[in-house]
Amino acid sequence: MRILVTGGAGFIGSHLVRHLLAGEENQVVNLDALRYSGNLDNLKDLDGHPRYRFVHGDICDAALVDRVMREERIEAVVNCAAETHVDRSIIEPGGFVRTDVVGTSVLLEAARVCGVTRFVQVSTDEVYGDVPSGRSKESDPLAPRSPYSASKAGADLLALSYFTTYGFPVMVTRGSNTFGPNQYPEKFIPLFVTNALEDQPLPLYGDGLQQRDWLYVQDHCEGIALVLEKGEPGQAYNVGVGEERPNREVAEAILGLLGKPRSLVRHVTDRPGHDRRYALDCGKIAKLGWSPRFPFGEALKATVAWYRDNAWWWQKIKSGEFRVYYEKMYGARLRDAQGGR
Ligand code: TYD
Repeated sequence: MRILVTGGAGFIGSHLVRHLLAGEENQVVNLDALRYSGNLDNLKDLDGHPRYRFVHGDICDAALVDRVMREERIEAVVNCAAETHVDRSIIEPGGFVRTDVVGTSVLLEAARVCGVTRFVQVSTDEVYGDVPSGRSKESDPLAPRSPYSASKAGADLLALSYFTTYGFPVMVTRGSNTFGPNQYPEKFIPLFVTNALEDQPLPLYGDGLQQRDWLYVQDHCEGIALVLEKGEPGQAYNVGVGEERPNREVAEAILGLLGKPRSLVRHVTDRPGHDRRYALDCGKIAKLGWSPRFPFGEALKATVAWYRDNAWWWQKIKSGEFRVYYEKMYGARLRDAQGGR
């Protein structure tokens, strides 16, 4: 199959490109705008690969998207391109609406007009909003609470509307918090791992008892690939493990793996509108034949080892644009913070 992966230089996208290329029948075109978190270092090993092509561009550029789909005779699309960090969406919401909502609409329209036969919109469990108890099912109403999750919910619903309105074969995946190698160090796990490696404080928001269901990136990619292959058009599929953990426990597990003291943890002012818990019912994708293969403890160990062994990858990032962001986001909070617990 000739597959267009958008955002393929990002975290989940780059793992997905590699996973799809492992299928010998697949050709993959990666369209990525290479903004702050898009990084060709993530795909170095694919240089010169005969079934892979990189195109530098923005999913909001309708003429470019249309041209790529026609010239490359694209049969399937997986939309991984997105602005994804909640904290950044609080500082600058407009870019999230542009990339996540407008970009998705441009892709859907080009794909429909060009006769694409499978389209997977990669969404998130955050579209369900805060889930104090129980588990979200795909049929639950969406109740996003941050500019990020509201933008993703807009894209998710727009994608599903293309099935209802045009019979266009679109599927949506709603994945839980994903982690693994190559994740930009603004996110919780890579931020805490790389800060700990540098003996820097770990800024834990509020009481640190917010819960997330951590999904290893390889498991997430296998879920997306299965939905691409076997998902029913017009359907959404939750992709998660079903093991929610408090942030504080994850922070302590990271420190334990690195042999660093708990005193590195700093309780800082909470994120505004912080969702306390996400939890998914994943029975629907299980029926398609997916289940997670990587236990949290092992996957976290492998992830920590990757960051320890690939300091060149994250040090380059942390000494660039990231420094300005980090000071803006954490500078005052860390200066005001309480150490330990
Ligand atoms: P994050 O990786 O930003 O994902 P999301 O907010 O989309 O779930 O954060 C995961 C959890 O970790 C979330 O509850 C917020 C918390 N967190 C911190 O406590 N400190 C931090 O510096 C960051 C980035 C996140």
